[in-house]
Amino acid sequence: MEKGAKFYITTPIYYVNARPHIGHAYTTIVCDVVARRQRMLGSDTFFLTGTDEHGQKIERSAAAAGKSPKQWTDAVAGEYRALWDRMGISYDGFIRTTDERHAEGVQQLFRQIRDNGYIYKGSYTGQYCVFDELYVDAPPGAPCPDCGRPTETISEENYYFKLSEFQDKLLKLYEDTPDFVWPETRRNEVIAFVRSGLKDLSISRTSVRWGIPVPDDPKHVLYVWFDADANYITAIGYGSDDSNLQKRFERYWPADVHMVGKEIVRFHAVYWPAFLMAAGLPLPKQVVVHGWLLFEQDKMSKSRGNIVRSETVLDVLGSDALRYFLLREVVFGQDGSFSFDALVQRYNADLANDLGNLSSRTLSMIARYFREQIPYPSPKASRTSGDDAIAELATEVIKSTNELFASYQFSRALENVWSLVSGVNKYIVENEPWQLGEHKDEASLARLATVLYTSAEALRIITALLHPVLPSATSRIWQQLGLGDIAKFPLNELKWGQLGLGTKLGKVEPVFPRAEKNAIERMQQAELERASAAASSAPAQSIPAGLGAKAGQPATQAAAATGTAEKSAAPVQGATQAAPAADGRISIDDFAKVELRVGQVKTAERVKGADKLLKLEVDIGSEVRTIVAGIAEKYSPEKIIGMKVVIVANLQPRKLRGIESNGMIVAASIGEKGLPVLASFLEDVPIGARLK
Ligand code: MSP
Repeated sequence: MEKGAKFYITTPIYYVNARPHIGHAYTTIVCDVVARRQRMLGSDTFFLTGTDEHGQKIERSAAAAGKSPKQWTDAVAGEYRALWDRMGISYDGFIRTTDERHAEGVQQLFRQIRDNGYIYKGSYTGQYCVFDELYVDAPPGAPCPDCGRPTETISEENYYFKLSEFQDKLLKLYEDTPDFVWPETRRNEVIAFVRSGLKDLSISRTSVRWGIPVPDDPKHVLYVWFDADANYITAIGYGSDDSNLQKRFERYWPADVHMVGKEIVRFHAVYWPAFLMAAGLPLPKQVVVHGWLLFEQDKMSKSRGNIVRSETVLDVLGSDALRYFLLREVVFGQDGSFSFDALVQRYNADLANDLGNLSSRTLSMIARYFREQIPYPSPKASRTSGDDAIAELATEVIKSTNELFASYQFSRALENVWSLVSGVNKYIVENEPWQLGEHKDEASLARLATVLYTSAEALRIITALLHPVLPSATSRIWQQLGLGDIAKFPLNELKWGQLGLGTKLGKVEPVFPRAEKNAIERMQQAELERASAAASSAPAQSIPAGLGAKAGQPATQAAAATGTAEKSAAPVQGATQAAPAADGRISIDDFAKVELRVGQVKTAERVKGADKLLKLEVDIGSEVRTIVAGIAEKYSPEKIIGMKVVIVANLQPRKLRGIESNGMIVAASIGEKGLPVLASFLEDVPIGARLK
């Protein structure tokens, strides 16, 4: 990389319909790691993040909470920003699409594209998915192909973007710049999508008010994705009159990396470059696509009710632990699972044990035996091949780690650094410096100096390589090594032998205390409390099934066990929590408390002495529930096994004929006898899906 080059990296801007969870933190952390590394390599780096605040989805979330869109977006955008600050995310810009400057830039982009002849007026009658803010090419009643939710039919006058004119140009882009979309699997998907034919795209809405008005025709607001994608240029000054901002745009655009989750590739690798081509602007260099963070086998998301908040991990283990876990455990580009057990295990094994021990024993022995100064390694005569092997390993690790980071192989990069951590720990054990330190003869002292110098130099290299991933801990180790501000260290100059002899150490302290015994329980408990507080203050939040208690224990039961059940079941208060109206209608908040999920019947048997009852084992994705259901008159065990049913997942358990039933099956009750007819679906639905 050319020295002093610029580097511009972006996260997607996050929807403010819900509060941040660790899925959002994942993208932000990965970008932060890349940005920090680039700064250490000497690049003039600009790291942008922000919030996506317009559109129908946000409009509805605000209305459901009884707030104006402005009040709602201010609150959630504030939460995002405060969280990134607490996590030490080193962003240089935070854009909100409700910023005045952004609106001006978006309108400027529209004008530029319109003036170039790529926008025309038409009308759209068809399906729209509000959840994905996506036009769907399907018949009325069809579900969204992306998320499976019902689409809505809309019919309105629109401005259209001539996307169809960009099919060949886009295909040429993917051909000429093979790493425009990374990884290759996503690139292939994008190419297949574009080859299948591009239709013109509606880029304005008239039935939505919460958005940026179309220039010269304000009854239209711009399509939320047109508005959102443009953030990447408006945030750095596009469309601004301010000459400093214009210079910033010239300096940083085009972006080097747009980092996105796999569900929004099309908006970044197809629509966005087409908008830019139409405006005559340079294209971003790369769209880097990562997979999903799964929790309880499903994509972590608010609508599935299976989220974990970053704060929960920060409170118990700190931000470095979360960063390390996500980069080490998830193979970047693929889906990866989050669990509290795996998090604590990684923390204890890799950080508290391996790295923590290496740092504290090396530094405390130097403090003790060499008056807190880096010792002089002894002359050649007393060197061993073991000393040289560590130096060689470190040199190799520097090279390969840099290559792995540069090619987004974070997990392997960390594994690679850990080969050096383990190598040095083994070297220390084999050389027993604590024994050498007890013999006061010259030869032992000379040997001790070499062993501790070698260990400290390896620790320095490890610390520098890990800084982008573990910014807080490595800054402290670096200071303990007496080296000052690690962020200023030029990473591309890193090599063996730079540790200054006689350098005075800083105050030596442990950096990774072992996780407390109850760390997992504390995090589960915190998550449960947050979820139930959210359920009673925001719409469409749910209590995550399986949290707060071990598998098999339903959420309500867990809540009762932790004393929070009353909170979530308490009478509703405040503007958003109206009590049932006089006509018996309930608020959306009341409905949101009912957790309806898709389950599949795994086993079924009649309950002895009860003609109407079946005892069922029902798989609801996160766990298998025992449910006793009064459906035996209509459904035989043979008939019901394998069926997908709708269950109320957060009912308090109840004993029926001595069997504890955890949930209820939803059925219509027909005729005088009230015979049950089970609720079912026209399309196949995944097990565990939430009904809303
Ligand atoms: N607002 C749009 C993006 C507009 S960018 C011009 C949007 N917002 S979002 O809040 O729904 O999601 C944004 C990003 O959050 C995803 O692309 C992804 O990077 C990240 N994630 C949200 N949930 C996630 C997981 N469960 N796992 C990994 N990343 C996830 O889409």
